[in-house]
Amino acid sequence: MDAFGRTIDYLRISVTERCNERCVYCMPSGYHPAGGRSEQLTREELVRVAEAATGLGFRKFRLTGGEPLLREDLPEIVRDLARLPGVGCLGLSTNGVRLAPVARQLRDDGLRTVNISLDALDPQIYRRITGGEVAPVLAGIRVALAAGFEQVKLNCVLMRGVNEGQIWPLILFASEHGLPLRLIELMPVTTSTVLTDRNFLPVSEAMALVGQHDELEPQPDRHLGWGPARYYRLRRTGALVGFIGAITDQHFCATCNKMRLTANGRVRPCLGDHGELDLRAALRSANSAAALRAVLAAAMAQKPKEHQFCAQYQPDRPMTAIGG
Ligand code: 5AD
Ligand code: SF4
Repeated sequence: MDAFGRTIDYLRISVTERCNERCVYCMPSGYHPAGGRSEQLTREELVRVAEAATGLGFRKFRLTGGEPLLREDLPEIVRDLARLPGVGCLGLSTNGVRLAPVARQLRDDGLRTVNISLDALDPQIYRRITGGEVAPVLAGIRVALAAGFEQVKLNCVLMRGVNEGQIWPLILFASEHGLPLRLIELMPVTTSTVLTDRNFLPVSEAMALVGQHDELEPQPDRHLGWGPARYYRLRRTGALVGFIGAITDQHFCATCNKMRLTANGRVRPCLGDHGELDLRAALRSANSAAALRAVLAAAMAQKPKEHQFCAQYQPDRPMTAIGG
């Protein structure tokens, strides 16, 4: 429990700052990850952190990045974490580019859920946003579906003037494949040209856009786990669409259940607050689970009531460094 009565049982672990895409809302162009490999936590260190976290009541873990599939030892990391007693659910957030060849293996290794970023279906618009190709991502989605994960979800970051015309095609694609689609408000997590007020598209407007095509039926709160999305079922298409009002939803932070571990071993209690604690120092100086638990507990105690995105928050490091 944190200082505001929230149960914090979800740790998002960034396993690398590196990425094979260059999403406009995440990576500043020309960005090169700061740290060398020695900055990054080793597989053995990640396991120790996860073990300590389960001791504090963390049950849900998600591997992120950067792009986690760039990490060569990801299958081993998945296998080790999935095997830890106390790890209830292990998920992966990926851009999907390299997912197709490894999805089945990861499923067999114990990975249970996969979230895939898909900001556009149109190859040109996709390229404009990410710098990459959409075809391998679509292949990755198909293989992930066939691999039998407990859950596969699609994520789309909303940007006015960039992809609002893709919302409806994405919904049709998602419903055709029986996948929930989450539409996410753009957060000022990086220094990027797309992060202007003009590019910001609130979920209220996205809902109105969807409402032109179909009727939205609100789903009970806390559908699909304790995520931050408010879900709607579309009456005609049957699509399940989640809206993540990271900026405009006044109650967004009240149900937050997560903390983050950056690739270089800092615990970040809140994405939208600069506070971080150095867990790597504890990992590399003392070989004790108690020391790790103490840092995690301190981070939990410091978890702020809400993010600072609406209070002149200036990003200090890119999303790819923090862990998406
Ligand atoms: N605003 C909102 N969502 C973002 N993501 C990355 N950067 C941002 C941002 N600036 C999302 C990605 C991915 C998830 C891990 O985080 O789309 O789906
Ligand atoms: Fe890479 Fe994900 Fe950031 Fe895009 S959002 S640049 S895929 S880490």
